[in-house]
Amino acid sequence: MSAGYSKDEVAALQEKAKRHLWLHFTRMSSYSAADVPVIVRGEGQYVYDQNGKRYLDGLAGLFVSQIGHGRTELAEAGARQAAELAYFPLWSYAHPQAIALADRLAALAPGDLNRVFFTTSGSEAVESAWKLAKQYFKTIGEPTRYKVLSRSIAYHGTSMGALAITGLPGIKDPFEPLPPGGVRVPNTNFYRAPAFAADDITAFGEWAADEIERAILREGPDSVAAVVLEPCQNSGGCFPPPPGYFARVREICDTYGVLLVSDEVICAFGRLGYYFGCQRYGYQPDIITFAKGVTSGYAPLGGMLVSDRLMAPFMSDAASQDGGHVALAEAHADPQQRAGRHSATATFLHGVTFAGHPVSCAVAMANLDVFEKEDLLGNVRSHEAPFRSTLEKLNDLPIVGEVRGDGYFYGIELVKDKATRQTFSDDECERLLRGFLSQALFDAGLICRADDRGDPVIQLSPPLTCTQEHFDEMEQILRGALTEAWNKL
Ligand SMILES: Cc1ncc(COP(=O)(O)O)c(C=O)c1O
Repeated sequence: MSAGYSKDEVAALQEKAKRHLWLHFTRMSSYSAADVPVIVRGEGQYVYDQNGKRYLDGLAGLFVSQIGHGRTELAEAGARQAAELAYFPLWSYAHPQAIALADRLAALAPGDLNRVFFTTSGSEAVESAWKLAKQYFKTIGEPTRYKVLSRSIAYHGTSMGALAITGLPGIKDPFEPLPPGGVRVPNTNFYRAPAFAADDITAFGEWAADEIERAILREGPDSVAAVVLEPCQNSGGCFPPPPGYFARVREICDTYGVLLVSDEVICAFGRLGYYFGCQRYGYQPDIITFAKGVTSGYAPLGGMLVSDRLMAPFMSDAASQDGGHVALAEAHADPQQRAGRHSATATFLHGVTFAGHPVSCAVAMANLDVFEKEDLLGNVRSHEAPFRSTLEKLNDLPIVGEVRGDGYFYGIELVKDKATRQTFSDDECERLLRGFLSQALFDAGLICRADDRGDPVIQLSPPLTCTQEHFDEMEQILRGALTEAWNKL
């Protein structure tokens, strides 16, 4: 415990939060009687609530706080930049921090992913990737390609385009009809593999990849623009790719001229022990989307890294040959006029005001400095095995079906019957996760995610600075809460 807010301050915060604040993806009615959890401060791997109570941040906020909380060097980098140049757009202009960060990210990314298009979030990054794929194909004379394949239960964001790519029916239904073109393929949950591949992970991976080919053929190859996949799928509880999976996916994409988008909003910036998740699994995407860990959450930023090949048509237009004057006039022109002037539109007709915000870019640079100075990738690589084996101790509990994941990114699937892998009914999930576990884990001082968007899982994705003492703390808190949950069933 540390000194928290006074009783009056706590009461005032609660009253205002309950009256005016709308929490995301949150059943607000559940706070009519209960207190809204208010986190007021962070330090290292821990955060503190309004009462001064300490929590181990086992989810890095929301897969974000890679370097941990309370780093003054990032706060100072942001403050310095705000004083120097708080804002200028990337619409026709550049600023030094965006240039420096684009240069640095291109150097860190694999292959020819040399071009950075900034956004402010992961959803915008995914939305941008789809828009780029569509416009790219129109520009090179393949205008019928617009569909995007993605995996069942995968989460790719909430804006309408990103939501059409997301594979979670429950969060899409209220917003139908969504933009057409989202097509689902199986994910790589080997624990739930179909019977014919249940004993052979390589065969399972081949099947899952071949399902992408079958979907492309079914939809018509000329209609498919991109396949969007996370390196290790988050939703459903951390599904790493089976051996050979991404090599086969790359081959399929090349065969049919389809772009491979690696959605690394979670998996980049050390989560899997590499700057980019595709580097861990050894594949070369055409686009990487990123957000979250690029700034460790000290300011919002997202973006996509794009290959030279995809950029090429956007470098060959008449307007750009005229130099900056034409480009500047373009920026001030009405977007519709702009679109009309470019028949094959070699200007990417897309942008958002705060993308590549100078403060966020400066903070991202300072964040990457910490990665280098403290060898955070090395820390993840050297500790991931002990992290996994500490969590695997939980396998002795009857409710734990499987511990899976890579790097500092693990899911623990909960089951009703270990031997048959029987899962819980919707009603049991409701009682188990929302009715008990989420609150019990929080009360015991661990922030993690109890999720049943697929089968019920607990997810862990802590700051990359964690070491054995933090793994032990997570294991002990989970052991207590999961044991109690089982006894309550
Ligand atoms: C893989 C993936 N893509 C996209 C998003 C959307 O990112 P944001 O919430 O920043 O819009 C998320 C968010 O968790 C994500 O995990």
